[in-house]
Amino acid sequence: MKHCTVFALVLVFGFLWNCDYSRAAVEPLKPGKFQHMPYAEKECDSCHRSDQPGAKDLVSDTPDLCYNCHDAYDGEFMHSPSSLGECLICHNAHESDQRFLLNEKEPDLCYLCHDQIEGLMTDKRNSTHAPAVDNCTACHNPHVSEVGSTLLKEQVKPLCTGCHAKEGIDLPVDINGVAYKHGPLETDSSCLHCHDPHATIFENHLLAEPMDLCLQCHNQEVVAYDGSALADIDKLLQENKFHHGPIKEKNCSGCHSPHGSDYYRILVSDYPKKFYTDTFNADDYKLCFSCHESTLLKDRETTTLTNFRDGDRNLHYLHVNREKKGRTCRACHEVHASNHFNHIRDEVPFGKINWPLPLKYQPVYTDTKSGEPCSDPSDTCVKTGGSCVACHARKAYDNRAK
Ligand code: HEC
Ligand code: HEC
Ligand code: HEC
Ligand code: HEC
Ligand code: HEC
Ligand code: HEC
Ligand code: HEC
Ligand code: HEC
Ligand code: HEC
Ligand code: HEC
Ligand code: HEC
Ligand code: HEC
Repeated sequence: MKHCTVFALVLVFGFLWNCDYSRAAVEPLKPGKFQHMPYAEKECDSCHRSDQPGAKDLVSDTPDLCYNCHDAYDGEFMHSPSSLGECLICHNAHESDQRFLLNEKEPDLCYLCHDQIEGLMTDKRNSTHAPAVDNCTACHNPHVSEVGSTLLKEQVKPLCTGCHAKEGIDLPVDINGVAYKHGPLETDSSCLHCHDPHATIFENHLLAEPMDLCLQCHNQEVVAYDGSALADIDKLLQENKFHHGPIKEKNCSGCHSPHGSDYYRILVSDYPKKFYTDTFNADDYKLCFSCHESTLLKDRETTTLTNFRDGDRNLHYLHVNREKKGRTCRACHEVHASNHFNHIRDEVPFGKINWPLPLKYQPVYTDTKSGEPCSDPSDTCVKTGGSCVACHARKAYDNRAK
């Protein structure tokens, strides 16, 4: 009350700066928003020995002082300042404006010592992961971890999926529920094979360009969950000069879901698993027809829908669209890359033993003026057909009207 009177008086006389001075001298410091319970309850003697508490009369040093009331932090993976008992680097024993009596708010508290992470997070070129901006303890335990030396609160996969739960924040698939899982996700490092938890220069906090990431592992044969040996895709791309459209765009995710999927070979959509189909359904090829016209399979006869035709006989229809033993696209096309026009493959893995059945595809070029065969493609030497030796003796097709 007293200083209020002074305040009013000073106002009346207009000596404003004087008032401020007197207030500071009279008023006690504003208490911290959060008070440590024994301090708030004036149990000073639970930490101080003397009646005139000070910094030098503590009943014991930290951490023992704290462990008189709190469970001791102990374990194989301790955070260095906690294991050294330096509790007061982070906590105030009395009160604080920060939650948990912290001396600073996150991330500044952590940046006191972790300037490398600070550098990473504050580099403007980086895309930063939302929780790492101000909530380091969303993932790290500041005292001790049961998981490992990186002080995580949980193993990587449950840690990340805890927030990116089933179709949670921007994750398009239910990682744990998918029918076809992707190997790396099921290892201890899981998400960390491809993502950085803090920040990187790449979109989606990836460790590298997406396709480069894929090829870091798929640069050798790897064994799939179904036991089959998966091709060395890096080698395939190096040895075959015509790369399929999405691969030219470095976009493996156009067809595969890196987090697993409900479709064979973690594809993003339907594609037949087997070499032959026993009932034809265009929907089984949704993958291809998400980018290509499904009409190439539609009509038995056409002169427009596809160039794989003999006159007006649609050979896509003939090979694929059948009640029994329909040939799937893989019989003739290699979806990643090939050395032939239109991704026709050299050979096709056939039968149970994956016998490499050669196709020996040969294009046919015709001179538009003379109508005679020619060999050097040009404006006047155009492709009019081709032939294969495959499941049959060499059979040819000719696009031109008969
Ligand atoms: C939970 C333990 C604890 C309790 C309870 C506690 N103190 Fe402290 N106090 C400390 C510690 C630890 C320090 C030393 C801080 C440092 O070295 O930074 C300290 C330091 C002090 C100091 C030195 C100046 C300062 O703030 O650093 C004073 C004064 C003080 N305490 C007063 C009190 C009073 C008064 C109470 C009771 C209302 C009290 N303390 C209750 C732990 C406690
Ligand atoms: C005399 C007993 C006692 C001592 C000694 C003590 N604490 Fe506490 N501490 C408490 C109690 C009681 C609470 C409140 C517990 C609760 O809310 O569950 C508490 C709560 C806390 C909290 C949580 C505050 C919050 O906002 O939730 C922190 C952090 C903490 N103590 C740190 C320390 C540190 C660091 C030391 C040693 C310097 C220490 N304590 C020593 C009794 C003590
Ligand atoms: C590197 C900073 C840091 C150090 C060192 C540290 N703490 Fe903490 N402590 C925190 C943070 C941050 C939290 C908030 C907990 C969270 O968000 O997970 C916390 C929470 C707590 C809590 C309340 C929650 C809980 O886990 O029970 C207590 C009690 C506590 N600390 C005690 C201590 C004691 C005792 C020490 C010394 C052995 C210590 N801390 C050392 C940062 C630290
Ligand atoms: C007083 C300095 C200090 C503060 C403050 C501090 N740390 Fe540390 N931290 C260390 C030291 C020292 C190490 C061990 C040295 C090392 O392994 O690089 C360490 C190690 C770590 C590690 C494991 C590093 C590794 O290489 O495995 C993590 C994670 C970590 N701290 C997170 C945090 C977080 C989160 C905060 C804030 C809540 C924090 N630290 C605050 C000093 C500090
Ligand atoms: C989304 C979870 C998450 C958040 C939030 C997070 N981290 Fe990490 N942190 C990790 C994981 C996971 C690792 C282990 C990385 C590895 O093994 O490659 C790690 C590793 C570390 C390391 C040691 C290795 C290194 O990369 O240098 C330090 C230090 C660290 N974090 C500090 C911090 C600090 C400081 C913050 C807040 C600014 C923070 N972390 C926020 C998950 C997180
Ligand atoms: C505490 C919750 C939390 C945890 C734990 C967490 N994240 Fe996140 N993550 C977020 C939030 C929030 C966003 C931002 C979403 C947005 O901006 O739309 C995000 C964004 C992302 C993004 C970018 C998505 C986009 O659309 O830009 C990726 C990738 C990501 N997190 C991966 C991870 C990985 C890997 C881990 C485990 C190391 C992890 N997250 C752990 C909350 C979390
Ligand atoms: C094999 C590499 C790889 C692994 C392992 C991986 N991701 Fe991703 N993640 C990617 C790629 C590549 C993208 C970019 C979007 C895309 O291509 O689908 C991505 C995107 C994301 C996004 C953004 C979603 C979107 O579609 O925009 C989130 C969130 C995410 N990942 C979380 C995780 C979590 C959580 C884990 C671990 C459980 C994980 N990722 C494991 C490669 C991976
Ligand atoms: C850390 C190594 C690693 C990275 C990075 C990686 N993979 Fe894999 N991938 C594997 C392993 C190991 C398997 C075999 C286990 C399995 O079947 O999932 C596999 C399997 C596959 C399969 C076959 C899945 C099946 O079971 O039928 C496809 C397709 C695939 N990966 C595509 C990709 C794509 C696309 C990327 C980039 C987004 C990628 N991989 C990144 C290691 C990796
Ligand atoms: C146009 C769609 C498409 C794109 C783009 C694509 N894939 Fe595939 N991928 C497939 C299809 C379809 C299969 C299944 C082939 C089969 O079984 O006949 C497959 C199979 C695989 C396999 C298993 C190979 C095997 O021997 O069974 C791996 C590994 C793979 N892809 C990795 C990648 C990588 C890495 C990229 C990026 C460089 C990529 N894919 C881009 C469609 C695609
Ligand atoms: C994500 C989109 C996408 C998917 C999915 C896709 N393709 Fe393609 N495909 C393209 C693009 C783009 C081109 C054209 C490339 C160019 O012009 O160089 C192309 C070209 C082709 C060609 C060469 C003929 C032409 O029109 O240039 C064939 C053959 C082909 N794709 C077959 C397939 C098959 C079989 C599938 C399914 C296993 C498939 N594609 C899935 C995007 C896709
Ligand atoms: C029996 C072999 C064979 C099968 C099976 C096959 N294709 Fe083709 N495809 C070809 C040949 C040969 C060409 C090149 C025609 C030309 O231009 O001379 C071609 C061309 C294409 C083209 C380029 C546009 C066009 O129609 O001329 C696309 C796209 C295509 N195929 C997609 C597919 C898809 C999708 C499947 C599976 C549903 C498939 N193919 C199955 C042999 C086949
Ligand atoms: C997986 C086995 C298989 C492959 C690979 C294959 N074919 Fe065929 N093809 C057949 C069968 C079986 C028939 C007979 C279908 C019928 O008569 O109903 C056929 C019929 C044909 C015919 C029609 C002949 C006629 O007039 O009756 C032509 C032309 C043809 N194929 C060309 C090709 C070309 C070109 C390729 C390579 C790009 C190819 N085939 C790859 C199995 C295959």
